[in-house]
Amino acid sequence: MDFDVARVRSDFPALDDGTAYFDGPGGSQVPHQVAAAIAAAMTAGLSNRGAVTAAERRADEVVVEARSAVSDLLGCDPDGVVFARSATQATYDLSRVLAQEWAADDQVVVTRLDHDSNIRPWVQAAESVGAEVRWVGFDRDTAELAVDDVRAELSERTRVVAVTGASNVLGTRPDLPAIAEAAHAVGALVYVDGVHLTPHAAVDVKALGADFFSCSPYKFFGPHHGIVVADPELLERLHPHKLLPATDRVPERFEYGTLPYELLAGATAAVDYIAGLASDAPDRRTRVLESMRAVEEHEDRLFSRLLEGLRGIDGLRLYGAPARRTPTAFFSVEGRSDREVYEHLAGLGVNAPASNFYALEASRWLGLGDTGALRAGLAPYTNESDVDRLVQGIRDL
Ligand SMILES: Cc1ncc(COP(=O)(O)O)c(C=O)c1O
Repeated sequence: MDFDVARVRSDFPALDDGTAYFDGPGGSQVPHQVAAAIAAAMTAGLSNRGAVTAAERRADEVVVEARSAVSDLLGCDPDGVVFARSATQATYDLSRVLAQEWAADDQVVVTRLDHDSNIRPWVQAAESVGAEVRWVGFDRDTAELAVDDVRAELSERTRVVAVTGASNVLGTRPDLPAIAEAAHAVGALVYVDGVHLTPHAAVDVKALGADFFSCSPYKFFGPHHGIVVADPELLERLHPHKLLPATDRVPERFEYGTLPYELLAGATAAVDYIAGLASDAPDRRTRVLESMRAVEEHEDRLFSRLLEGLRGIDGLRLYGAPARRTPTAFFSVEGRSDREVYEHLAGLGVNAPASNFYALEASRWLGLGDTGALRAGLAPYTNESDVDRLVQGIRDL
């Protein structure tokens, strides 16, 4: 089954008004199938999880189905799927739990390529116990994160290496298996921020070597909440603070309060939607992998067109040129403020915002201060006309 962008676009009511959305890295648009699943969960008769009434069973099924969907999306154990308010919250929660076992001479490694949500929680958790933070920079020209630079910061005292699966501004996809191998060799855990990688790649958390992997369904057609996955055996060893009547089972031990059932139904629908993008294989994991490979091909092709167009514009400066990347361009235009370009494009119905996008350290490292630059990210629903409108819109300035 081929990937058909026209078919995909017809599923997204938000595209009907002609807006070209390049802000997928901030949150994707939503297909009607996902919105319908959320509405159906909310209107079917829903109680708290249980086994006596139909409404209780429905809530229970929603949770079980969502863990199974995430396991098919990421190649992980459904019992290791933890739902949270956001990826940021999941990372904060886990950093605090892990820090309970750290001592003053321990170390954590963070990178300047990461979104602040995979930096600050570790910096603050380290501060709370007097542990040391080791920083890894990236190449300012290519935006590559060198494995050797990570290795250089590792020691027998490293407890956690926090690293992104893909930069949400520069698109860089670090060599995670090599980083994980180096981290594991000194006994450190690897916490991967997969928020920007998951919408753009076929993910296999075990092959990546991630001990923890976070993602956010609202970046891949789903509703606004977060997820972190880990091996259930690793989760068993960790003990977050919890309410007395709340279960101590894994993964529920890590989930505070009542789960957002309707959002979980939406997350399942988002995974089902992805699985059906370009595959009709009998099992969902295979459909996800085949479809995501087709998405990668579609996005790579369009991204080449975008880069070619942007490179042809006088005075446009593109930041970074990593070899393995998501279809995400970070750029500024000489003589124009980012805000001016952003507003000009918005006036043309082309949404490509400017910000540091919370990749604050990356923005500073590139010499862009806290301001950042413009970002154009592709999504499976992006087509050639969108790309051409973006390029032409900047050219017309
Ligand atoms: C790479 C990356 N990590 C983390 C986050 C934070 O995700 P959430 O909003 O689910 O906390 C974002 C959001 O933009 C992101 O792009």
